[in-house]
Amino acid sequence: MSDTAAPPATPEVCDFVVFGGTGDLSLRKLLPALYRRELEGGLPEDTRIIGVSRADLDDEAYRAVVRDALASHVERSDLYDGAVDRLLSRLHHVPMEFDDLAQWHLLHGLLKDRPRVEEAVTVFYLAVAPSAFGLICDQLDEVGLVSERSRVVMEKPIGHDLASSQQVNDAVGRVFAESQVFRIDHYLGKESVQNLLVTRFANTFLEPLWNSRWVDHVQITVAESLGVGERGAYYDRAGALRDMVQNHLLQLLCLVAMEPPTYIGRETVRDEKLKVLQALKPMTPADVDRDTVRGTYGEGLVEGQPVRSYADDLGEAAPESGSTTETFVALRTEVQNWRWAGVPFYLRTGKRLPRRTSEIVVVFKAPPHHMFPHSEGSAEPNRLHIQVQPDEGMRLTMTAKEPGPGGYRLRPVSLDLSYADTFDQRSPDAYERLIMDVVKGNATLFMRRDEIEAAWSWAEPILDRWTTAPDRPRRYAAGTSGPTAATALIERDGRSWQEIE
Ligand SMILES: NC(=O)c1ccc[n+]([C@@H]2O[C@H](COP(=O)([O-])OP(=O)(O)OC[C@H]3O[C@@H](n4cnc5c(N)ncnc54)[C@H](OP(=O)(O)O)[C@@H]3O)[C@@H](O)[C@H]2O)c1
Repeated sequence: MSDTAAPPATPEVCDFVVFGGTGDLSLRKLLPALYRRELEGGLPEDTRIIGVSRADLDDEAYRAVVRDALASHVERSDLYDGAVDRLLSRLHHVPMEFDDLAQWHLLHGLLKDRPRVEEAVTVFYLAVAPSAFGLICDQLDEVGLVSERSRVVMEKPIGHDLASSQQVNDAVGRVFAESQVFRIDHYLGKESVQNLLVTRFANTFLEPLWNSRWVDHVQITVAESLGVGERGAYYDRAGALRDMVQNHLLQLLCLVAMEPPTYIGRETVRDEKLKVLQALKPMTPADVDRDTVRGTYGEGLVEGQPVRSYADDLGEAAPESGSTTETFVALRTEVQNWRWAGVPFYLRTGKRLPRRTSEIVVVFKAPPHHMFPHSEGSAEPNRLHIQVQPDEGMRLTMTAKEPGPGGYRLRPVSLDLSYADTFDQRSPDAYERLIMDVVKGNATLFMRRDEIEAAWSWAEPILDRWTTAPDRPRRYAAGTSGPTAATALIERDGRSWQEIE
């Protein structure tokens, strides 16, 4: 799989093996995404999808499970009997316990017993807990199912710190070459995120402004209105920094801050992102105390509905000594290089915030000279809003003269690009795009091992300091924008957060 500027071709023959084929991720995201590719004729003609789990299901029973899942997770108006039946006919289920090597012969037999076996690309999708990644890879190797045409897909979390992520990557790396490993960050599959690359690098007007001379600061917000739901036990061991900042927010930051690669290719893009991660200002304990705020939601009102506190949501999953896990993080960092020296990047994410939104806001500097001394209204700094979800799009706010005689009345106005309105076509779900990239062997939108490790190296001092710091996460009422200390974090620099409401 060499890195070239030419788009990779879709193979004709493919086996898509989903370890954890009966799990939440598979039924809610992967199989609906595969259905949509089926509907649009995007799957290689000769594709089989093989679910693997301990459930005692034969092919027909598994097809019934997936049929129900599609009914629940694909919009009714997009469900067509013909496409559903075509997808179901591709499905197989192999029951097995991963650690019982004797049970792997069934999978082996199925993968080897097919026409054009020597041409088949095989995708091994690890939709299981990361503790099983190494074991599955070893077993694949042991039974002889790994070849040059194999690819392996890993879901987050990849470790909970640098050492554990290295262990996971070592375990997978003993069997698969780095070029065969696809680490998913589904944010990178979103249309608006890829459009950020196009906006920056297929246009000229932004580039002269995209630096510390003209950019005042950057804000990246990933807000969720949901609480931890059923994932309390997992979430309480992770927290917002591990669950969101170390991966999704840092990946968004990389795309904002990276230098133009020579072309959009697998290694060229990842090389540039890595340089950004390596240029992030390291956090000393004093920096962590000053530049980070963590919080935990209390009870409150979200979208008009009363909701419980994090502690109540955890219920029996709560540790005996009480949880100190953060459900909210705000922090200030810098990219220490020539382009961005001195420009603050404010990152913020949390659960039970007023609404679900992911947005990047690039705030430009105010004009150097005020030329409208008798004007009414004020000239706001220009802001470029990149709306990642929902309602993907882009908005540039600028100052305009309100029409009418008698002096200058200045008003902020916006130039809007709504994906839905402009392109009049459905934006595919991130998984649809990423799954097909795996099939084609295009890893540009996947994280390389050194990126993951650079991100952990930067995040770990924050986690370490929080472990020893005397204070606990600050409480914020559900439905608000986080602890007041997060507001203070940015206001002490004379700036303010973009409203989430
Ligand atoms: N769910 C999400 O939205 C989401 C989002 C991002 C990342 N992830 C990550 O994706 C992974 C899967 O998450 P999930 O929510 O889908 O988990 P899940 O619902 O618990 O599913 C786990 C799957 O693995 C199978 N399995 C577990 N142990 C097995 C074993 N020893 N042998 C054979 N099969 C086994 C389970 O089937 P049986 O019990 O029937 O064997 C089930 O199909 C996790 O690493 C998670 O962190 C999930």
